[in-house]
Amino acid sequence: MTRSLPSATRLDVTGYGYQAEALPPAGEAPRPEDDPRRWFEHPERPFELEIGSGKGTFLIQEAPQRPEHNFLGIEWMMAFWRYAADRARRRGMQNVRMLHADAVEFIRQRVVNESIHTFHLYFSDPWPKSRHHRRRVVQDDTLQEFHRVIEPGGTLRIVTDHDELWAWYEEHVARCPLFERESYEPCVSAKPGELVGSNFERKFIPEGRHFRGMTLRRRSPV
Ligand SMILES: C[S@@+](CC[C@H](N)C(=O)[O-])C[C@H]1O[C@@H](n2cnc3c(N)ncnc32)[C@H](O)[C@@H]1O
Repeated sequence: MTRSLPSATRLDVTGYGYQAEALPPAGEAPRPEDDPRRWFEHPERPFELEIGSGKGTFLIQEAPQRPEHNFLGIEWMMAFWRYAADRARRRGMQNVRMLHADAVEFIRQRVVNESIHTFHLYFSDPWPKSRHHRRRVVQDDTLQEFHRVIEPGGTLRIVTDHDELWAWYEEHVARCPLFERESYEPCVSAKPGELVGSNFERKFIPEGRHFRGMTLRRRSPV
């Protein structure tokens, strides 16, 4: 997939692309000065974060439809991050920023309590081999972290095509008292028949794959 991306020299991320490796060292716990909401013109607006944004298709479509919200995409593959940030810059999207980072590490180190309105986790890597399961984004401890950073009443939205990853989500959610499971409603920008409208979903639709989604609403107090 990277081969189809424009060369890095033709992409410009100025003002839209942030890199975790270029930020000041993290503290022992997330500090107000680390808060990524500060990267937006209107930091007071509801803040949505996509983990593993790939080429940024979901954010590029969704953000213009909800201009009163800010959106941050986190992607750890440099080529995709750069491509997505350049897409947002070319469109002058004031409510979109892209971050090059390991999303789980970034959230743990730099996202302050109760600052996220909505998390988006779409078509996350399934890591099918047992010895790689620990690389999956959803784990018992990451659900605790998501609960820490989601604001009261906020949500984590999940979609996958992968049966075994879906079963993993169901198991983890069933033993986690921190969230109320609700049905999944398609994204505002999704086209008819889509749940998200992301690159992977559009790649998988012609293959006839089956997609499933859930919404987890933060319980507070637990
Ligand atoms: C299968 S792709 C899906 C991309 C996009 N969400 C979509 O639906 O088209 C998963 C993406 O998540 C990224 N990713 C996986 N784990 C990540 C992490 N911990 N931090 C940042 N990016 C991650 C991968 O590099 C990849 O681009």
